[in-house]
Amino acid sequence: MKYIRSFLLFICFVIASCNQQTVPPPPTTEIGEKPSEKPKKVEAANIEVIAFGSCNKVDLPQKMWSPILQNEPDLWIWLGDILYADTENMNKMAADYKQQKNLPGYKNFIEQCPVVGIWDDHDYGVNDGGKEFPKKNASKKLLLDFLDVSKNEKVWKRPGAYQSYLFGEPGKEVKVILLDTRYFRDDVKRTIGTNRRYIPNEKGTILGKEQWAWLERELKNSKAQVNIIASSIQVLPKEHRFEKWDNFPKERARLLRLIQNTNPKKAILLSGDRHISEISKVKLKKLSYSLYEITSSSLTHARPKPEGEPNQYRVGDLVDKNNFSVLKFDWTQEDVKVKVEIRGEQNKVYESQDLF
Ligand SMILES: [Fe+2]
Repeated sequence: MKYIRSFLLFICFVIASCNQQTVPPPPTTEIGEKPSEKPKKVEAANIEVIAFGSCNKVDLPQKMWSPILQNEPDLWIWLGDILYADTENMNKMAADYKQQKNLPGYKNFIEQCPVVGIWDDHDYGVNDGGKEFPKKNASKKLLLDFLDVSKNEKVWKRPGAYQSYLFGEPGKEVKVILLDTRYFRDDVKRTIGTNRRYIPNEKGTILGKEQWAWLERELKNSKAQVNIIASSIQVLPKEHRFEKWDNFPKERARLLRLIQNTNPKKAILLSGDRHISEISKVKLKKLSYSLYEITSSSLTHARPKPEGEPNQYRVGDLVDKNNFSVLKFDWTQEDVKVKVEIRGEQNKVYESQDLF
């Protein structure tokens, strides 16, 4: 009996040993990093190139991923309309994100470049939508999963999808602030007729109370040499009839006032949404540098505008071909130099501007 028990124990030991060997080894990662902490992976790395863009249809040819990689970006920022889901059906939205993530060009891209981002209206779930969208929490989960945002990040625990990231070593720090212009945004009404415009909402909010307080802290406490503030919709341009911060004139004024009062070292605005690209510039009284806004849109379906459109703040030409943009950082000077390029197919440069 004693021998039979020993024999059975031996058999159990062999089976357990075999099972252990079938457990796959943990995936290899960068030193000391877990795979889920993707955005943090580059926090210690210095930023030389940031690429960004918006307005991307999953069913259209996506020709930009390869030229973007030619610029050797350290980071990619989605500025919204990552896809055109436009639905309350979260299964459909999840399928669209899955399709995007499995496109060979994009799959190859995210294996080589860290990605962060924010939504606009079409990936939020409703064209020109705001706080009333009933599926905004489910939609937020899909966005953060698509972006591989670590479950440890605060954005998972609070309402809205706004986030910030810090990259680079002290003295070469770049802060990326991603604003959520959808989750808290009050309603805006449109005029009736063929050339419909939004009626300015003088009392409503875009960011909401909590996000405003967070943004103030992010800017006030920032020691970064460059502070990138990404908003899906345009901040500076006023004349066009589409979505813009100027549809909430007091919110626009508040944002520009906040940037002046917190006075971060070198702020840059980024936006998307418009299916055109352009560089806008404003000189604010209390800022020692010009505040630029780079609007970069669309990756797949730019809207040809042979007649252009007025924008009193525009520097250079409007770009109406499919495009992406890159910020290039030169840390060799005492004060960092930053240049922007709007580029397109075959990595062709459409616009170029020194910002600082
Ligand atoms: Fe949009």
